[in-house]
Amino acid sequence: MEYHIDFSETREPVTAQPGDTVLEALLRAGVPFPHSCQVGNCGTCKCELIEGEIFELPYSEHALSEDEKAKKHVLACRAQVWGDVKVRAIDIEGISLGPIRSLRGRVISLTQLTHDIREVRLSLEAEGGALAFAAGQYAQVEFAPGISRHYSMANTPDEIDPVFHVRHVPGGRASAFVAEKLKVGHGVRVTGPYGSSYLRQHHAGPVLLVAGGSGLAPIESILRTLIPRANGAAILLYFGVRSEKDVYHETILRALAASYDKLRLNIALSEQPGRGRRNGLLHEVIAADRIDFCGYMAYLAGPPAMVDAVSGIVVQMGLEHRNLHADAFYNQP
Ligand code: FES
Repeated sequence: MEYHIDFSETREPVTAQPGDTVLEALLRAGVPFPHSCQVGNCGTCKCELIEGEIFELPYSEHALSEDEKAKKHVLACRAQVWGDVKVRAIDIEGISLGPIRSLRGRVISLTQLTHDIREVRLSLEAEGGALAFAAGQYAQVEFAPGISRHYSMANTPDEIDPVFHVRHVPGGRASAFVAEKLKVGHGVRVTGPYGSSYLRQHHAGPVLLVAGGSGLAPIESILRTLIPRANGAAILLYFGVRSEKDVYHETILRALAASYDKLRLNIALSEQPGRGRRNGLLHEVIAADRIDFCGYMAYLAGPPAMVDAVSGIVVQMGLEHRNLHADAFYNQP
């Protein structure tokens, strides 16, 4: 038995097997539907259920607001199909993203950013051309057969050489390889782009950027892409790390703040107070600022616990759910 998903952005209905999620069926049909975690945490796969019944798998309370549920918004990754359904895309900009490609490349530089984060800069082979992506997206980087991970691009889409910030995670095979074995000249394969927490070009209002640790990579890409077109809009950046030795790229961030006077930079240490630093976990620091986030577009990147806590607080502080874009590093041990 097969079911059909009538989707607003495709001419023909998409075929689904019983028990498929809407997202599984759309991706299998080649529809580049916005998604990230695929387990109901991030909320980036929202769509509107127009007709038919779905079975909803469990999901995070932060992924959909009560208001969205009342409007029959559902998470495509949690909506199991047990009959024909009709759904409508909410985030049309996400549907038009470019195709996923797999490109060969080479390491051209390695830079130690902190005691446990290395910057890896690649050059992709000429016949493959540049990796087309939107600021904030990530790619799968394969360093050796079976040793691959998702890492966010820290460069902007205009910069040809992909740059990644790789944190050495205890027990992480790919990050251990990067920390201990990777050398300049090493061959790699990059597949992407992926991820839905990318810069929304249509938004002309204020922007909130929140980065935890090496989550600064996609946030820096968004920030450097955004500033030349921000047109006087306020940009609030919160960068949270554990202690002073984990802070990196501060000189770059301060130079950006000096070049754009509507950028406010907050660096927060969670485990020890520091001179000129905010102190506390990111959601605590943001809550203390008592900002009304109504009208803001927000981008969050970092560990899942940080993303969940900040998501909850900024929505309480007025941010509309549909303006919250988050890629937690769910799939990066
Ligand atoms: Fe569906 Fe994250 S992809 S909630």
